[in-house]
Amino acid sequence: MTIGIIGSGGLGSNVARALAKKGLSATISNNRGPASLAPLIAELGSTIKAGTVAEAASADIVLVAVRWIDLPKALGSLPAWNGRIVIDGTNPVEFLDPNSPDAKDPTNPLAAYGIKAIDLGGRHSTEVFREFVPGARVVKALNHLDVQVLAQPEVSGGQRVQFYSGDDAAAKAEVRKILEAIGYFPVDLGSLDVGGRLAQLPFGALSATNFIKI
Ligand SMILES: NC(=O)c1ccc[n+]([C@@H]2O[C@H](COP(=O)([O-])OP(=O)(O)OC[C@H]3O[C@@H](n4cnc5c(N)ncnc54)[C@H](OP(=O)(O)O)[C@@H]3O)[C@@H](O)[C@H]2O)c1
Repeated sequence: MTIGIIGSGGLGSNVARALAKKGLSATISNNRGPASLAPLIAELGSTIKAGTVAEAASADIVLVAVRWIDLPKALGSLPAWNGRIVIDGTNPVEFLDPNSPDAKDPTNPLAAYGIKAIDLGGRHSTEVFREFVPGARVVKALNHLDVQVLAQPEVSGGQRVQFYSGDDAAAKAEVRKILEAIGYFPVDLGSLDVGGRLAQLPFGALSATNFIKI
């Protein structure tokens, strides 16, 4: 199974780092193009390659690691997914300019983190996300831990718990294999309707929980 990553910021680069640590291969992409990824590729070694978004999106399993607001542009003009697996690593939050009124809004419980929840009208985020990747088998994973801890799957003599959810058992099994190969302890939260909601940031009951399986 080939792996592609769309987005090379906090999430995409750290997942690439975790894959590289285990000698796993992937193609990573971003908005600025492959040349901008040269320093990251030099750091991570030969298993991680830089590609265009279309090249990363052609992999068997594609992690989407862009900000919510960038989803339409990042995914809007890609070829048909044809049942390939897409990992939704996104969360429906807006990153705030520290000088904007929103960043100082006392009614925003996330202002201290520099983010604001995006109102999805009661829908869970993967329900909305999957409309951007029609025909893909979507698995929600890699979204609920801060990247500071995400990059260290094996800690304190144990394995960091990584939640995942999805509606296609075979797709979930493939994603689980990758999570295990990276060194996480994967925990299946069930369907997207149940698990996606539990693990989505912000406000999901299991969001940002950082369990370690000893
Ligand atoms: N940061 C975390 O701790 C964390 C943890 C879990 C989940 N998440 C979620 O992961 C997602 C990404 O967060 P992040 O912190 O990694 O954001 P980030 O550091 O801002 O990185 C975003 C990446 O998306 C790329 N991008 C933007 N528009 C694109 C386009 N049209 N086509 C291709 N790539 C595009 C950017 O490309 P350029 O580099 O070329 O600008 C950048 O590499 C968000 O949905 C976030 O909620 C974040």
